[in-house]
Amino acid sequence: MPERTIVVLISGSGSNLQALIDATQEGRLRAKIIAVISNRQKAFGLERAKKAGIPTDTFSLKKFREQGQSRIDFDVAIAKTIQERYHPALIVLAGWMHILSPEFLSFFEKQNNIINLHPALPGQFDGAHAIERAFEAFKQGKITHTGIMVHKVIADVDRGEVILKREIPIEQNDTLETLEERIHSYEHKLIVEAAQAFLDNLENN
Ligand code: GAR
Repeated sequence: MPERTIVVLISGSGSNLQALIDATQEGRLRAKIIAVISNRQKAFGLERAKKAGIPTDTFSLKKFREQGQSRIDFDVAIAKTIQERYHPALIVLAGWMHILSPEFLSFFEKQNNIINLHPALPGQFDGAHAIERAFEAFKQGKITHTGIMVHKVIADVDRGEVILKREIPIEQNDTLETLEERIHSYEHKLIVEAAQAFLDNLENN
């Protein structure tokens, strides 16, 4: 049976990382988070990882650039760390705000084991500020609901095979903050279910 190990990539608050940590600790997610990698030194998620005793690594694109290295060098350094040091069954992008280059993805082509949480439904609001854009579209009467998804990561941003998705209503009296809150609470469930589904699928194949 393959080892159910996960590396989580974060850039910020890490509330979805926390959901994964809680689920592993409570036995709802049968897996071990073996490392957390951040591209921001101040990401609060790093504190969450440390508190849970999970090793962390931080990579700064700015520092790479200052040393005359490229964005691709940066991506390759992260990919090598993940593959050579941790060799996880699954890589979860949980609020990871850096588009990964084909050079990064090529390290994991065979395993096809990178999944990303995105706060929009497939084909809608790809890329950054998805919740703000959905809220704007709602105010203009263009949509009545939004959603979230977890999908496989491919070079085409937010267009990889969908593992799980969920529609989320937008209420008439919603503010951006109340909508964000609702989205986050559903994300914390979906990310755990998607990680579990991915790992179960590995075992069954
Ligand atoms: C989440 O809402 C996640 O869906 C979003 O960043 C937030 C991270 O929150 N990700 C993207 O927009 C990726 N395109 P967290 O740091 O509290 O987990």
